[in-house]
Amino acid sequence: MKITVIGSGNMGGALVHGWCKAGLVSQLTITARTQTTLERFRSLYPEINTATDNAQAVRGADVVIIAVKPWLVDEVIDQIKLSLRDSNALLVSVAAGVRNARINVYTMPNIAVQYGAGMTYVEEPERHTEQYQKVVDLFSLVGKTQIVPHKLMDAGMQISGCGIAYVMRYVRAMMEGGVELGLCPEDAKQAVLQTMKGAVALLEESGKHPEDAIDSVTTPGGYTIRGLNAMEEAGFTNAVLAGLKANNKE
Ligand SMILES: NC(=O)c1ccc[n+]([C@@H]2O[C@H](COP(=O)([O-])OP(=O)(O)OC[C@H]3O[C@@H](n4cnc5c(N)ncnc54)[C@H](OP(=O)(O)O)[C@@H]3O)[C@@H](O)[C@H]2O)c1
Repeated sequence: MKITVIGSGNMGGALVHGWCKAGLVSQLTITARTQTTLERFRSLYPEINTATDNAQAVRGADVVIIAVKPWLVDEVIDQIKLSLRDSNALLVSVAAGVRNARINVYTMPNIAVQYGAGMTYVEEPERHTEQYQKVVDLFSLVGKTQIVPHKLMDAGMQISGCGIAYVMRYVRAMMEGGVELGLCPEDAKQAVLQTMKGAVALLEESGKHPEDAIDSVTTPGGYTIRGLNAMEEAGFTNAVLAGLKANNKE
């Protein structure tokens, strides 16, 4: 399968890194506005095809990923539509909040696709074709995917696209607390990351609800419950909910 990625910035670039690590480098053609961006990828992956001409880059592609800023999507589609006239290529968007009649599959990945640990929401199609499944499989190579109806794509973006930034704030807050308690920043960071990995493993392997997991680490009258209650008093859950709903258009 030949894949063209139009736009190799934060998101397009993360997908390119992820797919190269998954062994797809010889199937990839990537584009960017500048040679500087493309050179960075060529130096890491000499086999990769690069171009600044989008119309040329999509010729012969089976899947075209559009990963430019949302306001450039229509312009890029205009540039490539002639090249795709007699082709069955699927046009896939990763752009937030964009609609265009020529786009076949809307997705919302997060930046962790670069490390094979992405979370991608894929909009449910009218008809679930073999070609559509190939797009889902492509994103599944670099993380987990969930297929959802159009109305849930925004929720997916909040939870996992923006969610990465929300998790970073939690890490930063824990680090700041750790430093105040006397730990060096780097030691605090490593401890927070390892604790997060532990929490993920606990939830994934036990299948427990987070509150059940909390019960298993909370001694009545002990440190953890006092810490949790103090966090709630300071508005922890409400702050997370407010962040998630800040862009809710309804
Ligand atoms: N960042 C995220 O976490 C994230 C998550 C989910 C979805 N998205 C979506 O991903 C899309 C890209 O966002 P981003 O954060 O990756 O932006 P970005 O870092 O600014 O990257 C944009 C890329 O597009 C290239 N570009 C600009 N005009 C172009 C053109 N006419 N033809 C080909 N390439 C062109 C740029 O080239 P140069 O490098 O040469 O300037 C750059 O590589 C957005 O629609 C966004 O909604 C982003």
